[in-house]
Amino acid sequence: MEQQQIKTLREQVEEALANVRSKEELADFWQRFLSKKGSIPGLMKGLGAVAPEERPTFGKMVNEFKEQVSRRYEEMAAKLEAAELEARNRAEAVDITLPAVKRETGGLHPITVTKNQMIDVFSGMGFEIFEGPEIEDDDHNFTRLNVAKNHPARDMQDTFYVAEDILLRTHTSPGQIRVMDNEKPPIKVLVPGRVFRSDSDATHSPMFHQMEGLVVDKNITLCDLQGMLDEFCRKIFGSEVRTRLRPSYFPFTEPSVEVDVSCFECGGKGCALCKHTGWIEVLGGGVVHHKVLENCGVDPTVYSGFAFGIGVERIAMLKYGINNIGLMYENDLRFLKQFKD
Ligand code: PHE
Repeated sequence: MEQQQIKTLREQVEEALANVRSKEELADFWQRFLSKKGSIPGLMKGLGAVAPEERPTFGKMVNEFKEQVSRRYEEMAAKLEAAELEARNRAEAVDITLPAVKRETGGLHPITVTKNQMIDVFSGMGFEIFEGPEIEDDDHNFTRLNVAKNHPARDMQDTFYVAEDILLRTHTSPGQIRVMDNEKPPIKVLVPGRVFRSDSDATHSPMFHQMEGLVVDKNITLCDLQGMLDEFCRKIFGSEVRTRLRPSYFPFTEPSVEVDVSCFECGGKGCALCKHTGWIEVLGGGVVHHKVLENCGVDPTVYSGFAFGIGVERIAMLKYGINNIGLMYENDLRFLKQFKD
C-alpha cells in the first residue's frame, strides 16, 4: 500500500518533469513535490498509519525517493541553466566577419592649420596674440593709420560700410592702433583675424584672414623686420628659401616693402607657380610711420617699430597648391579631407 503510494507519486513526478520548460515551471515542480508542504515530505504524514515494524523501512523508502527526485530536480535545473546560457550566447553573438562600422573623424580646416602654424612660428619669437573687432570705425581702420578722409589710398581697398564711419575692417592693421592705445612699448604682438573687402575672383574673397605683426621698441629697424620674416618664410616654406624686399607703398609704413620668397616649387629657376619670375610675393610690411606712432601717443623720437600683414589664405594656397580661394569656403568634404594632418 505504501509502496503503491510512492509508485503513483513517482509517475506523477516523471510526468510533471517531462512538462517542465522553464525555471518558473521547475519552481512550481519543487513546490508541488519537494517543498515542506509538497507531496513527498507529505508521505511522512501517513507514517502513523503504517505498522510500527514497517515504519523504519517506509521512512527509508520515502527518504530515498526524496533524494532521487531531488537529484532529478537538480539535473533539470542544470539543464535549464545551460539552455538559457546557450540562448543568451546565441542572441549576443557578434559576427566578426562583418565589415566594421567606420567612425569618421574630422580634421582642421586648411586655414586653421595654416593660421596655427603661423602663430606657432611667431610665438616662438616671443609674439603675443591680440584680437580686435571685425566691425571697426573709420578712425581705427583708416584715419589713425594715416589714411585721412579723401586720401587716395582708401581706394586701394573696397570697403563694406555698415553705417557712416562704421565698417567691416578691411585689414588687421587697426589692431596696431588698439594695441598701442592700451600698451606702452616694448610691444610685440600678432593680430590674427577675419577681414573684409568687396573683391571676388580666383584669388580674392570678400572675407579672408590676415595676420598682423607689430613690434615697437627702441632702435627697431627694417633689418629687424627682414630678419624675422626671413625666419618666418623658412619655417613655413622650407629652410632653403630666401626672401627679398621690394619697395612698396602703404600709408601707415615708411619705408614700405613687399616681401617675396624665392619659389619653393622650382627653387627660383622659374615655373608656373612663380609666373616664371623665381619669386612669389607673400606679404606687405614696413617701418611704422611716425604719424601712426604719434596718433597713439608713442614718441617717434624715442621709439620706432615695424609692422607687417600676411594673408593667411594666400599662404595656405601657396603651401598646398590650391588654385581657387573659393574652395576654402565651400565645405566640400572631397576638398577638406585632403588636409587631415
Ligand atoms: N594692412 C596692409 C594690407 O592689408 C598690410 C600691411 C600691414 C602693410 C602692416 C604694412 C604694414 O594690405
